[in-house]
Amino acid sequence: MITVIGNLKGGCGKSTITFNLAIWLARLNQRVVAFDLDPQATLSDVNEVRREESGDPELTIYRPDSDPGKVFREHAEDEILVDVGASNLWAMRQAIASAQRILVPVPPSQADVWSTQRFLNMVKEATMRVEVPPQVLLFVNRADTHPGLKESDETDEALHMLPDVQVLPCRIGQRTAYRRSFSEGLAVFELSERSKASDEFFSLTKLLYPELAGDSSKKKKAPKEGKKSAKISKTG
Ligand SMILES: Nc1ncnc2c1ncn2[C@@H]1O[C@H](COP(=O)(O)OP(=O)(O)O)[C@@H](O)[C@H]1O
Ligand SMILES: [Mg+2]
Repeated sequence: MITVIGNLKGGCGKSTITFNLAIWLARLNQRVVAFDLDPQATLSDVNEVRREESGDPELTIYRPDSDPGKVFREHAEDEILVDVGASNLWAMRQAIASAQRILVPVPPSQADVWSTQRFLNMVKEATMRVEVPPQVLLFVNRADTHPGLKESDETDEALHMLPDVQVLPCRIGQRTAYRRSFSEGLAVFELSERSKASDEFFSLTKLLYPELAGDSSKKKKAPKEGKKSAKISKTG
């Protein structure tokens, strides 16, 4: 299945979510390939850190110079995750037209709701001639964790008003674990499997991959001996 992780504004968490999903799938022994179609190349950068730190499992990340259509065909049976950014609109449209679903992280602000609306218009245009249009799944990312702040609820309400989309009943909070794990080339649940950040991320995986999420404890890869497992036990 091809899942595009997209939105127009930078900083909404596209690369973060793509990276975490890719590792989660790989740890369940799923064949997963990830595309970094954003010239900002955050996904490639974080994977470089992961490689330097001997992160296991390793991820395969394709860059725009590989022919996406060809790789999509070669990996038709695999889980394909595509991180797209607005600085390469051509690649973004191509990926959207090939996808079965579009996952849209939305930070809690009016500006992000506006840019999400623009992104959804682009999705409509890009899939006008597609026989089976992709599912469009929105969720609030970087939600306020302070109970007194209402922006996340308001954003959620605004997303529910948008036509032809599903708003996922899960929310990922603004958690320092995302920044910390990213800088070490790790997924949040590799940093610590029992944290609010991990729980929220697992809620997202349950909605996206219900058939895998329930089974995660059985199929999970054993951690590799050495540097990375030491790091996990130190921080976890
Ligand atoms: N839920 C979150 N909590 C805390 N920080 C986050 C969260 N999601 C993303 N970030 C951070 O926000 C920044 C931008 O995220 P990134 O995934 O690069 O966004 P995008 O790919 O949409 O431009 C990164 O520093 C990332 O670690
Ligand atoms: Mg990015």
